[in-house]
Amino acid sequence: MQSLPQMSWNRSHLLGLEDLGRDEITAILDLAEHFTQDTHERRSKRTNLAGKVVVNLFFEPSTRTRMSFSLAARRLGADVLDFSPSGSSTSKGESFIDTAKNIEAMGIDLVVVRHSATGAPHLLAQHLCAGVINAGDGAHEHPTQGLLDIFTIRQKRGRLEGLTVGLVGDIAHSRVARSNIHGLTKFGAKVIVCGPPTLVPRGIEELGVEVSHNLDAVLPRCDVINMLRIQFERQRNGLFPSIAEYARLFGMDSNRLKKARPDLLLLAPGPINRGVEITPEVADGPHSAILTQVTNGLAVRMAVLYLLCGQPGM
Ligand code: NCD
Repeated sequence: MQSLPQMSWNRSHLLGLEDLGRDEITAILDLAEHFTQDTHERRSKRTNLAGKVVVNLFFEPSTRTRMSFSLAARRLGADVLDFSPSGSSTSKGESFIDTAKNIEAMGIDLVVVRHSATGAPHLLAQHLCAGVINAGDGAHEHPTQGLLDIFTIRQKRGRLEGLTVGLVGDIAHSRVARSNIHGLTKFGAKVIVCGPPTLVPRGIEELGVEVSHNLDAVLPRCDVINMLRIQFERQRNGLFPSIAEYARLFGMDSNRLKKARPDLLLLAPGPINRGVEITPEVADGPHSAILTQVTNGLAVRMAVLYLLCGQPGM
């Protein structure tokens, strides 16, 4: 097993990519490369987090993010607790902060939190002594998803600077979009956000992105396309005429793919609605790195956990 480098790291929370500097993001990505070897070999049981307790505090559904954090923490030797709101005392009226403080009182080192409210992880960071990792807050940020997307692009393309990355679909409700924008622009990638006018927030250009409502027009310029899920659970009705029309204008199918560069890298954070954002033959086809992203997510989360509480002396 490769030994891990000693890294300089000064933060106890990971709340968003907006706050991180380019050097900090690079440190996480470089460290994640060390861990990809572990994940390929299915090696487990490093002991950097032995004696530490990580709790997954998820107030919204999750498959990939939650399981990936659990496995990452276990592979580093931590104990992992899983909280679900259904069946918990939140249904008896306990507040979010009280729930978190009570769990922390059991002796918790890190809280991985997902919540529908923007800023929920920031609130916890103010009230807890434990480190806090944002696993998705409303439509705000999802930093580890942004990191694993950026890691996958760097791994497949060898660089970030000068690449053109299209974020397609429901930009307005996507925390993945915001984390990608903050991360990618710090590395000199050009980001184009593309979706129906009702799903692209006004003023988003201020984040340093180009806006388009015509996927066919921008597709030939893109090195990477990240297909975002329509966040039906966060939408009011009537933001586009029909799902069929959305798929026709903004979905990726093999016909549309012919307009793309031959080496286009296709990402999606998952879950995907097959036939809406991406057709099955494209999702499972040669351009798609969707499952590679999931594999990389494990290494990226191991890197984040290690930096926040796994280095010697922590
Ligand atoms: C994303 C999320 O929850 O924000 N999924 C994920 O973490 N892999 C994107 C989504 O739900 O569409």
